[in-house]
Amino acid sequence: MEQRWFVDNAANWDQRALVHATSPGYNLDSYVADREKISATVSFDRSDLGDLTGVNGVHLQCHLGTDTISLARLGATMTGVDLSAGSVAIAADLAARTGDAAGFMASNVYDAPATLREAGELTSYDLVYTGGGALCWLPDIAAWARICAELLAPGGVLHVRDFHPVMLSLDAERDDDLLVITEPYFQTVEPNTWDDGATYVAAGEGAPEITATTSHEWNHGIGEIVQAVLDAGLQLELLREDRTTGWAMLHTMVEVPGLEHEYELAEGPERLPATFTLRARRPS
Ligand SMILES: C[S@@+](CC[C@H](N)C(=O)[O-])C[C@H]1O[C@@H](n2cnc3c(N)ncnc32)[C@H](O)[C@@H]1O
Repeated sequence: MEQRWFVDNAANWDQRALVHATSPGYNLDSYVADREKISATVSFDRSDLGDLTGVNGVHLQCHLGTDTISLARLGATMTGVDLSAGSVAIAADLAARTGDAAGFMASNVYDAPATLREAGELTSYDLVYTGGGALCWLPDIAAWARICAELLAPGGVLHVRDFHPVMLSLDAERDDDLLVITEPYFQTVEPNTWDDGATYVAAGEGAPEITATTSHEWNHGIGEIVQAVLDAGLQLELLREDRTTGWAMLHTMVEVPGLEHEYELAEGPERLPATFTLRARRPS
């Protein structure tokens, strides 16, 4: 894994974080105004997660901490970890304003056990939670799964709901409704490198321009993800593919009636797996 990939991605995410902190999409102030608010992402995951009362959890790639804080509101004591120090600073400020049981650390996922150990934090958790556009920033899925296993206490659970690699392999720029694969489905050694000053939510008032425009992404096939989790010694308990996603990647997606912030293809949603949910447990 080349260090420059992470340096570029951290710079890009530090700037995106400033934009996202102003955006109506993230609406950070709403978590202060309504101390019971749960993010749409965590609301979707709630039935898969079960009771979180008394659980110690770590949220990998926590970004602005809205999902981390939501998990804390469901009864867990949470630590959020993210490569972007700018994201972590915004997340820590939000948690200080809401008073929820969530702390935050800046770290590359691949260094998370060492970073947490050196900071005197827990290194063994009941829950490792991640997703919502997380795995596509990681060059090596097998090494990621080993980190998740290392962070789990015996009996602890890894929970992932992320964008489906089939969706991520599609051409997102088409103006018709055909589903055409133009990007890698399988993990590649070299990243897909983008030069793009845009992000996935509308900027709010006073948002800065994104000038650190280089970012690097990797896709991972479902088989690669599942095998990585099994090879790391975890027991697979749940693997579900859903036709809905919290991010409308394609312009042909519409919000699903009755499912706030969940989108699917307007025509023939049964054609596309848009997200997957995976739960795996470290044996006791
Ligand atoms: C799409 S965001 C996650 C979004 C999250 N679900 C949300 O909406 O709040 C991806 C996050 O992954 C982080 N990230 C990217 N590469 C990382 C790495 N190697 N280690 C830790 N975090 C990383 C980025 O800084 C960013 O905050």
